[in-house]
Amino acid sequence: MNILILGGGGREHALAWAVQQNPKCDRLIVAPGNAGIAGIAECAAIDILDGGAVVTFAEENAIDLVIVGPEAPLAVGVADACRAAGLLTFGPSAAAARLESSKAFTKEVCDACGAPTAAWARFSDAAAATAHIRARGAPIVVKADGLAAGKGVTVATTEAEAIAAVEAIFSGAFGAAGAAAVIEEFMEGEEASFFVLCDGTDVLPIGTAQDHKRVGEGDTGPNTGGMGAYSPAPVLTPAIERQVLDEIIRPTVAEMARRGAPFQGVLYAGLMIAEGRARLVEYNVRFGDPEAQVLMMRLGAQALDLIQATAEGRLAGARVNWAEDHALSVVMAARGYPGAHATGTVIRGLEALPADSRQMVFHAGTARRGAEIVAAGGRVLNATGRGASLAEARALAYGLVDRIDWPEGFCRRDIGWRALGQPGG
Ligand code: AMP
Ligand code: GLY
Repeated sequence: MNILILGGGGREHALAWAVQQNPKCDRLIVAPGNAGIAGIAECAAIDILDGGAVVTFAEENAIDLVIVGPEAPLAVGVADACRAAGLLTFGPSAAAARLESSKAFTKEVCDACGAPTAAWARFSDAAAATAHIRARGAPIVVKADGLAAGKGVTVATTEAEAIAAVEAIFSGAFGAAGAAAVIEEFMEGEEASFFVLCDGTDVLPIGTAQDHKRVGEGDTGPNTGGMGAYSPAPVLTPAIERQVLDEIIRPTVAEMARRGAPFQGVLYAGLMIAEGRARLVEYNVRFGDPEAQVLMMRLGAQALDLIQATAEGRLAGARVNWAEDHALSVVMAARGYPGAHATGTVIRGLEALPADSRQMVFHAGTARRGAEIVAAGGRVLNATGRGASLAEARALAYGLVDRIDWPEGFCRRDIGWRALGQPGG
């Protein structure tokens, strides 16, 4: 098969790494890719938000399968354009991608199918939103309705903070994403993520993970795209997994089909777990980043068979071949991230590192400058380990971190702490 993956982060490096191990993969192209991906696949500079450009490129290169990595191309209908051109495509339609691109839409779907989630209300002007906040009090959660690159959510501990968030949304801080605000009940508990493949009708669980969204150790400081992840997440017990499938995922998938927008791709449920039950925080319509890195490390080459079965609508007969393993990924970011940070700083020592099914450094934001690898983003590298225990996976991941010579980078030293305890503690 000739395969085209859209995207250029650590998630897409991990997808490419798993896919190219499968003997079915003849040729692999990633657009735009990055310096790490260039080591295992061809990279192509096409505009992945332009469905026409993607289709033309895929036809010229005899692509048999398109895998869409990030949410932005899905939200603008790139998967629709590919399918309309007859290309086998992994990823939801723009209509189904609304499960990520509109928080109010997701809440309506949850209400329609009875999926447990936080109580909510939608507002299109600041005055009504402010009155609602005053009536409910803090803590309370304020969200821009649309896609805001993970920055549209404020978990407010005071009414003043919530009202400031409403004002930011309606003053245009998030562009079109801020045409409406969703205000939610604050849910307490432990967060975890559950991933299922879905072919429009059938669902296949492919693993659980826990992300670390805050920049600082002990989950402190500002939110980021994710500073590290591990899989499986023990907080998602088999009983809670069954509850999530029965009460949240399957009802959502049925409701989307009923609305004429069947969901095909990977559905990523962000969950809040308290007292042995999960409620939905949000859906994403693509793999998480860095959650994909730990999932791909665990699935390996079979990821391609599962993705193909999803795109072909054959999930009913598909099975995951599970190993009793654990994976953990540590994000190395540029100093200053998620705020202002330098790019172009030189990273040394990567060539000497192992790159196998137990230890892999996935590139998130890197570029090649002559013979050197340089940082080209906020989140830059994902040092990932896989072992028989989570402690072993963690030791393998940090073993990679400690051999990377990048003075301008940093990472959290406590990835996995909720399952393993604090380092040294
Ligand atoms: P979202 O982009 O909707 O996932 O929100 C980002 C983060 O905000 C989540 O991962 C949670 O940590 C937090 N969050 C969102 N909604 C709620 C809620 N209703 N209660 C508590 N925390 C929330
Ligand atoms: N790591 C969180 C996300 O991919 O949305």
